[in-house]
Amino acid sequence: MKRIIAANFKSNLSIQEIQQYFKTLNSSFNPSKDIEAIIFPPAFALNLEAINFNLGAQNAYGAKNGAFTGELTLDGLVSLGINYIMLGHSERRAMGEDQKLLTDKFNFYKDAGFKIVYCIGEDLNTRQKGQDNIEYMLSCQLEGIDLDYNGLTIAYEPIWAIGSGVSAKASDIESIHHFLRQKTNLALLYGGSVNDSNLKEILNIPDVNGALIGSAALKVENFLKMLEIAKEA
Ligand code: PGA
Repeated sequence: MKRIIAANFKSNLSIQEIQQYFKTLNSSFNPSKDIEAIIFPPAFALNLEAINFNLGAQNAYGAKNGAFTGELTLDGLVSLGINYIMLGHSERRAMGEDQKLLTDKFNFYKDAGFKIVYCIGEDLNTRQKGQDNIEYMLSCQLEGIDLDYNGLTIAYEPIWAIGSGVSAKASDIESIHHFLRQKTNLALLYGGSVNDSNLKEILNIPDVNGALIGSAALKVENFLKMLEIAKEA
């Protein structure tokens, strides 16, 4: 299966910094059939030129257009040539996006034929209660999500590992990805403090098909380095 290396910029970088980043990536990254790079920049940068990588929206509302102040919607994304979207990131769930809203968004963008990176992950309290509790929580976060949709990629991102500088242990990632693999044959990403030192080990864990990277991807030279690591892993 093709490796997917995705960068989530969150609400970081200016338009000038992202222009420079994309310019470097467009000239330095040689795509291959084995690897796909996706960048999820802030919405204001979704109109920039992406030649050898894909651009995706970090979030959007499930409507074509209309009276939805402050929201990105389908027509706007399509007009930019965007057909990737991330849904369910824990930072959005923490802002109040519940499973019903996420399921509605998922179904809407699935019907529109978008590729969807759908994020799930447990909090520290659940992690400490053990595997059964974690599996239950992840199953709830997958409720209503069509796991046979071939445009779907699932990103397992334990909340306690995001932005902490310490990724989950390889054995923990393996057991969760094994659990997810029983549910779907689609690509499974790991996210949470992935960087150029741990990426190779993470990509070699069974059932890990790629990574979703936040802070370590904010510098283009680091992201390029990680794309090289992924090519060799
Ligand atoms: P991180 O973020 O790599 O900074 O931990 C990952 C994410 O939130 O997607």
